[in-house]
Amino acid sequence: MTLSREQLAARLPRNGLGRPLHYFDSIGSTNDHAKQLAEGGAVHGTLVVADEQRTGRGRSGKGWHTPAGTALAISLLLRPGTLDGQRASVLNGVAALAVAEAIEARGGEAAIKWPNDVLVGGRKLCGVLVETSWTEATLEYAVMGIGVNALPGSAPPDSQVELPAVDLQTALGKPIDRAELLLDIVGGVGKWMDDISRPTFIRAWEQRLLFLQQWVRIERSQGTLEGTLLGLTEGGRLRLKDRAGAEHTIGDDVRRLRPVDSELG
Ligand code: BTN
Repeated sequence: MTLSREQLAARLPRNGLGRPLHYFDSIGSTNDHAKQLAEGGAVHGTLVVADEQRTGRGRSGKGWHTPAGTALAISLLLRPGTLDGQRASVLNGVAALAVAEAIEARGGEAAIKWPNDVLVGGRKLCGVLVETSWTEATLEYAVMGIGVNALPGSAPPDSQVELPAVDLQTALGKPIDRAELLLDIVGGVGKWMDDISRPTFIRAWEQRLLFLQQWVRIERSQGTLEGTLLGLTEGGRLRLKDRAGAEHTIGDDVRRLRPVDSELG
């Protein structure tokens, strides 16, 4: 089913995130547009949605595939006044958790590859790009960009990506309504934004972590670390126990995270 501005505007809750709605049949990047709106003073909760992105952006300067009629491309403008620099990274978890729960509500089993890729059956379904703007230590705004492979045709071919991808309809083997999926995701982001300082949020994110309790290798700019993935800190950083039993916490600087077969692997 096609997305439509009227249908979405009528169904977004009056007093939640998602208003005002800026809908485009085709756009360069919803994140770029949301940032322009933010610079112009747009309010917390402003939502940018596009049916197609021509120059969608992924993390680490990569592109993001959003063909018309099949995917979800969403950018939410957030002005969560109280988040300090360290806590802003938890916005990645908010987005991933909202998508994971929307998948689970449709009968799927979702895993979150820290910090924010959402996978089903080992294949990537969703990517998140959170971009922030600061005045010294004050977070002016965050743009939370969420891209979901919803219907067949939205997932890029394996040859073009590091992590093989799939769309939700194929993964679950049943029809997916993109508008309903979008409403559930935006609703979930609203719910977890309200609970962002509660331990229940970190626990819900942690429970869904891919490789939890497994032996993993983490490549960072300062070198590689190996250990058992224990979970998350209260600030959403990874907790890792190395061979010698020492615990490490790892934040933003993760280039690659993958399991290795054994402690010797
Ligand atoms: C990733 O590399 O995994 C992150 C992908 C984020 C894609 C979304 S789609 C909506 C928003 N607009 C963009 O240009 N990027 C994000």
